[in-house]
Amino acid sequence: MMEKRNAVILGASGLVGQRFCQMLSNHPFFNITGLFGGSTSDGKRLVDVLKIPEHSISDPELLRKRIDHLDVDAISKLDPDIVFSALPNDLAREIEMELASLNFKVFTNASANRMMESVPLVVPEVNHECLETVRGKHGFIVANGNCSSIGLALSLKPVMKFGISEVNVTTFQAASGAGYPGVPSLDIMDNLVPYISQEEEKISQEIPKMFGTYESGHIRNSEIKVFPTCVRVPVRDSHLEVVQATLGQDVEEYEVLESFRNFRSLPQEMKLPSAPENPVILRSEENRPQPSLDSMAGSSERSRGMSATVGRVKLSDSRLRYVTLSHNTIRGAAGGSVLNAELMFKMGWI
Ligand SMILES: NC(=O)c1ccc[n+]([C@@H]2O[C@H](COP(=O)([O-])OP(=O)(O)OC[C@H]3O[C@@H](n4cnc5c(N)ncnc54)[C@H](OP(=O)(O)O)[C@@H]3O)[C@@H](O)[C@H]2O)c1
Repeated sequence: MMEKRNAVILGASGLVGQRFCQMLSNHPFFNITGLFGGSTSDGKRLVDVLKIPEHSISDPELLRKRIDHLDVDAISKLDPDIVFSALPNDLAREIEMELASLNFKVFTNASANRMMESVPLVVPEVNHECLETVRGKHGFIVANGNCSSIGLALSLKPVMKFGISEVNVTTFQAASGAGYPGVPSLDIMDNLVPYISQEEEKISQEIPKMFGTYESGHIRNSEIKVFPTCVRVPVRDSHLEVVQATLGQDVEEYEVLESFRNFRSLPQEMKLPSAPENPVILRSEENRPQPSLDSMAGSSERSRGMSATVGRVKLSDSRLRYVTLSHNTIRGAAGGSVLNAELMFKMGWI
């Protein structure tokens, strides 16, 4: 039995930070030894700044834990084995780099360092081999994708073998995707906003990196082209995405359905604690997936919110259409980082 690793959470009072607290409560591999936030949460206990229901965090000691002001010296003093970052992008860029240069292992949700060549951008079921690029390093950053890119990548992975070179996607993104307090209520209540700053650029850049090939220590981006249109919708959690892609091979619809249904990857083989049995859950009902019914899809308490749900699959004239939904702050953020860290721990790399 490997000894548990100590972890700290940066941005612990935010929406993603609190999902980290949820997913790392009583975790079999990791202990939380420090919580860090900004001036709003400084000195407060986690329970005093909750943005998710109290029962989501099963460890009472963690609920009572104090949030300290973010400070590299204070983090260094705790000497954590792992740093989970849910910092705003402008802050993340330098702090994460500094922590990596001080030999800390950083797993981040911020977009600031995602596209750096030295930073693998990993969805474990899609491109776990890219974690090799940081294997053996003392300090590094492993990044998560944007919350829409992760769901899109998970759903595309089982069908990429049918020769997809171009994807059109329209996203319907939850208000929590903008963090707390996020989009002003008067902008989003009873409304849709067909623009999310920087979101379309992120998706079209990140998917080619996620589907890149790992060759002799480097990642070569895929040539895949992605054309996203992003819409903010008055839903609390989960992003729904309508995907269209042309297949480069003659394939029957049942083969596509089987590929979604049978998709498994390394996290499932390794039975990682936060890995759902089915990373993609295929629904046959004509009105699924829906945020209110499918947000928390997953097979165990720890993997709730970690599956992407796929439905409305149609194939005609090699044109594939489907709808996918995934939880933006769980699979699309904290849960994605936790799964990366679980994989590296189980491999003996951290
Ligand atoms: N929300 C999503 O769906 C989602 C999905 C994927 C990735 N992300 C990324 O994850 C990161 C966190 O997002 P979020 O939605 O959790 O944001 P959030 O709810 O706004 O939380 C931001 C966190 O950062 C802290 N913070 C803000 N300014 C600070 C400062 N000057 N010094 C130290 N700490 C500071 C806040 O502390 P106080 O409470 O004390 O101010 C809070 O803990 C962002 O980079 C975001 O782009 C978010």
